[in-house]
Amino acid sequence: MPLVSMRQLLDEAAKGGYGVGAFNVNNMEQIQAIMEAARETKSPVIIQASRGARSYSQDKFLYHLMLAAAELYPEIPLVMHLDHGNSVETCKSAIDLGFTSVMMDGSLMPDGKTPSSFEYNVDATRQVVEMAHAKGVTVEGEIGVLGGIEDGHGAGGTGLEHVTDPDQAAEFVEKTGVDALAIAIGTSHGAYKFSRKPDGAVLKMDRLIEIHKKIPHVHLVMHGSSSVPKDLQDIINQYGGSLKPTWGVPVEEIQLGIRNGVRKINVDTDNRLAITGAIRKVFTETPEKFDPRDYLKPAREAMKKVVAERMKQFGQAGHAGDYSPISISEMAKKYSAQGVGVR
Ligand code: G3H
Ligand code: 13P
Ligand code: ZN
Repeated sequence: MPLVSMRQLLDEAAKGGYGVGAFNVNNMEQIQAIMEAARETKSPVIIQASRGARSYSQDKFLYHLMLAAAELYPEIPLVMHLDHGNSVETCKSAIDLGFTSVMMDGSLMPDGKTPSSFEYNVDATRQVVEMAHAKGVTVEGEIGVLGGIEDGHGAGGTGLEHVTDPDQAAEFVEKTGVDALAIAIGTSHGAYKFSRKPDGAVLKMDRLIEIHKKIPHVHLVMHGSSSVPKDLQDIINQYGGSLKPTWGVPVEEIQLGIRNGVRKINVDTDNRLAITGAIRKVFTETPEKFDPRDYLKPAREAMKKVVAERMKQFGQAGHAGDYSPISISEMAKKYSAQGVGVR
């Protein structure tokens, strides 16, 4: 099966009332872990690469690994998505390479740190929508600003400084024609999201529900959605790591989001924790080993376990065979028939 459009996956998820995990990758083992989890659970899936991942991997390597995944797992609808594109040019380079979906994160200026104006965000995102839809590529935009900093990307802070305003969200969708909308509700990237189990004071699920009521047909995206499970933290610390106590987004809150319009859930940190814990365990228990396969295999297996669990929790499990994927060129025709940028 060729790489497919994210818009179709999310439309199908909305029909079925489930969410689809979007998992970040940088290398072959992470892609293999996700594809094995997708096969085991029969899940459609979104694989995403950040700017940092593209530069780490030389993105052509990553692209060809994704083509291999599509060839080796033909039963799995598979999207290749750009995570947090910082500019129109970055999105263009991803589309030119063959990504089937891009995120234009115009909530920040191209430096990836400074919160932008609403007007800048609308203008940059609209440009990406016109360029992408002409090729059948899906666009995710972001309104409101997440907290935290990952690999130099992010505004910092707790995530509560720029929570999404429902009226602005509606105006943004209307003016840009995005296919999916990332919103800020108090989450942040990375392991240190909350200093205690989050409640409504720090994780604004009520705001998410308000936004969904205002724009019920828009596919909402939750970033910073790792749950940072205690058992994964413990494995790292047991084998010589030093993570401070921390809390992520409880899965039941994500499931509440899914019942209220969330269709794409971004997860990276949980997989990073699983990989690191597995590698630390091998290094500590068998320090005589030096074949990378001895620690990359358990690392891949640990990530597969987390991804498969999330696929079941988000509800995408069992849905891989529900529909015939629409090619990007067919999607381009659909967008053009509707008028480019129309949702
Ligand atoms: O947006 C955050 C993702 O976890 C990607 O992180 O920029 O370090 O690759 P990264
Ligand atoms: P986490 O750091 O919570 O995994 O979030 C990942 C993310 O939002 C990628 O865009
Ligand atoms: Zn994100």
